[in-house]
Amino acid sequence: MKIPEPITWIPNPRAATISHSPAVAKYFPAGISTRTRNFHIQIPDYHVTPLKSLNRLAYMIGLDKIWVKDEADRLSLGSFKVLGGSYAIHQTILKLLGTPADFSFSDLNQPEIRNKLGQLTFAAATDGNHGRGIAWSAKQLGFKSVIYVHKHTSQARIDAITRNGAEVKVIDGTYDDAVRQVIEDAQKFGWQIISDTSWEGYEEIPAWVMQGYTTLFAEVQQQLVSMGEFSPTHIFMQAGVGSLAASAFGYYASLFGPERPKMVVVEPDQAACLFHSMEVGDGKPHSFPGNLDTIMAGLACGDPNPIAWDVLYDCADGFIKCPDYVAAKGMRVGGVSLEGDPPIVAGESGAVTLGAIMFLMELDRYQNIRDALGLDKNSRVLLVNSERNTDPDDYRRVVWDGGDRIPPEYRVYKNPFLDG
Ligand SMILES: Cc1ncc(COP(=O)(O)O)c(C=O)c1O
Repeated sequence: MKIPEPITWIPNPRAATISHSPAVAKYFPAGISTRTRNFHIQIPDYHVTPLKSLNRLAYMIGLDKIWVKDEADRLSLGSFKVLGGSYAIHQTILKLLGTPADFSFSDLNQPEIRNKLGQLTFAAATDGNHGRGIAWSAKQLGFKSVIYVHKHTSQARIDAITRNGAEVKVIDGTYDDAVRQVIEDAQKFGWQIISDTSWEGYEEIPAWVMQGYTTLFAEVQQQLVSMGEFSPTHIFMQAGVGSLAASAFGYYASLFGPERPKMVVVEPDQAACLFHSMEVGDGKPHSFPGNLDTIMAGLACGDPNPIAWDVLYDCADGFIKCPDYVAAKGMRVGGVSLEGDPPIVAGESGAVTLGAIMFLMELDRYQNIRDALGLDKNSRVLLVNSERNTDPDDYRRVVWDGGDRIPPEYRVYKNPFLDG
């Protein structure tokens, strides 16, 4: 069997020519992150997650800086996802109330508001983290939630959802099948779907989800400024349906316009629906033709989010797909950091961009990609650790037991600290 390359790349030169993206203007208008952050700040226990500088690693692989926004402890839920789900639930409730008043999260528990709303049930399909965020948000407000997962979802991830008060339904199929089933059942039972992906006629709520994630990037910018920095020069963002990446790229395109950083999407090679859409090349989103068999559970999505795709097609300078061993490398490099660099406990989906940037910088064969992106010793790269070890057994399989080993031909041993 042929060993897959660590990095397969497809450029999107079109992005550099776009001076105005209608999708960015629509979903990420100026001020949106102030609005979402003002909402998140008043959630009890909200705090800014750390931005970790891997200065030694950056030097080792030929970059100026690597900054990792570490979402491992976001509201004690283990991933960034709750930022989108909570904001979308809040916006949905304001819309149901039909009031322009901007009630806070806790105001929604007031009896007169509850009487007006009646009993609501929120529903979502998930590969783990989004469902956990929806269950948590619904529980904070005293509402029910029903979360659909696919049959390969790990027990640890299911338990994390039920611990937050949700009813969990396991679907025989993939994440995309779970999405289809929740749509059908929500219609039957009158539930409110809070989805992190969109379809025709259902776009407002997934747009709120993407907007909710911008809080994370607004925090990054504030943290950079407080460190005397201005902006990253490059952003690598992992993608399942593409909402997180669209949020990052939409935020930075809206903030900096044509002066924005170079931006790259990273996906598992077995679930690369955005990469595949670029390959098809007609400017539209396309379903991935494979079986979504990857350890990166949070990224195992076959259908792109169409509204996220519109942003990415305009703003992503390139798309990368990687085999599982790239994520495994990122998990190990984060967990066993160089002396002086902070450790990062990253789950499979959280770690893949760290693994990808290492292969990209260290292997001679990727000089053409580095040149295309202008990646060199002056580059300041932003990554997001989007989850902690949300599947602890698999984390130990990889990090303790050396699972998903790096093929010998792609191992690099350079030590600039000794050599220099
Ligand atoms: C840990 C983690 N990282 C990244 C993503 C990707 O987000 P999106 O599906 O919006 O591309 C997910 C999605 O569930 C996730 O759980």
